[in-house]
Amino acid sequence: MIAPLTHLGDMPIEEFLRDYWQKKPLLIRNAFPGFESPITPDELAGLALEEEVESRIVLENGKTPWELRNGPFDEDTFANLPEKHWTLLVQAVDQYVPEVNQLLDYFRFIPNWRLDDIMISYAPDGGGVGPHFDYYDVFLLQGLGKRRWKIGQRCDSSSPRVPNTRLNILSEFHTSDEWVLEAGDMLYIPPGIAHWGTAEGEDCMTYSIGFRAPSHSDILSEAGQEIALNITNDLRYTDPNPKPQANPGEISAETIAQLQQIIQQHLTAENIAYWFGKYMTERKYLEHTDEEPLEIDADDWQSALAEGQLLWRHPAARLAFHSDDKGTFLFADGEAINCSRPLAELLCAHSEITWTQLKPLIEDPFDVAALSQLINQETLLVDE
Ligand code: SIN
Ligand code: CO
Repeated sequence: MIAPLTHLGDMPIEEFLRDYWQKKPLLIRNAFPGFESPITPDELAGLALEEEVESRIVLENGKTPWELRNGPFDEDTFANLPEKHWTLLVQAVDQYVPEVNQLLDYFRFIPNWRLDDIMISYAPDGGGVGPHFDYYDVFLLQGLGKRRWKIGQRCDSSSPRVPNTRLNILSEFHTSDEWVLEAGDMLYIPPGIAHWGTAEGEDCMTYSIGFRAPSHSDILSEAGQEIALNITNDLRYTDPNPKPQANPGEISAETIAQLQQIIQQHLTAENIAYWFGKYMTERKYLEHTDEEPLEIDADDWQSALAEGQLLWRHPAARLAFHSDDKGTFLFADGEAINCSRPLAELLCAHSEITWTQLKPLIEDPFDVAALSQLINQETLLVDE
């Protein structure tokens, strides 16, 4: 696995995290010196023809201003696009192109479970998605050609938008900085900061390395749903201090305090960790497969590894772990699996594992069972 970046340009990561991450934009000239896009514009367009790939086209002057079209597309779509002022966006290219997947490793100075995916955009001259803001941190790495980036004001859900478009285009933009990025340059944008990128000249490709940040609304509803699954129906509301009340309609402060206590009693660190690990490691796209589930037993994978095959992390797999005084949960693609902490650490820090690395760690039958589950659910792959 490629080691995570220790510096962004000349700036140590510690300084970046302290002064810029989630606070202010940062331009990093030559973040990846000599960067060459591992995917060509034609290959990107090819991905947008595939059924399972999420892709979009934005036309600045389409049937409506800032028209948004959703893929998959066909060859005709591309043949009929105007010469300028449109862009193609392809989501999660890291899952389809191994060299793009490897780029993710540079960004693992932020935890695995915060990293989302790499979206790649292609635009001819003048193309872009317009002035907008995102709710997520993003690194915008220029992959090919040139893009002019403007940085604007801080925004939130009440910021005025252009009407009649499915995109959240800001109707006001106050430029505070402006730069032209070339291949290998990178721009960091924190959540809520307006930005506006426009291709300059032909063949502009921009890589967006995006992060996950659940909304408070998601945290509450998703955690509540998961935790509720494990609460017996026998536990019910009880009246805290029954006595006659002046009006039968009143809900007393005591009742509310009792409800607060009920809610808090279930929001233990253990329950939250169990939910959060599963939730943050859910894959971006669920595979719909009609294939029979795998049934590889422990002897099979152990002998394959002993013969020199490697244990690979599936390109779409998401892994994280959490330890408390009861033990360690490894979270893998939305599942919680008990295993030893050293095994969880090894699997989370490496995308490719040899038998020599693994053998000393799997004395425990729990760990062998954990690995069998990971292989059968295709979080890990055994291959040359
Ligand atoms: C782009 O690559 O054109 C858009 C990326 C972004 O602004 O988030
Ligand atoms: Co954006």
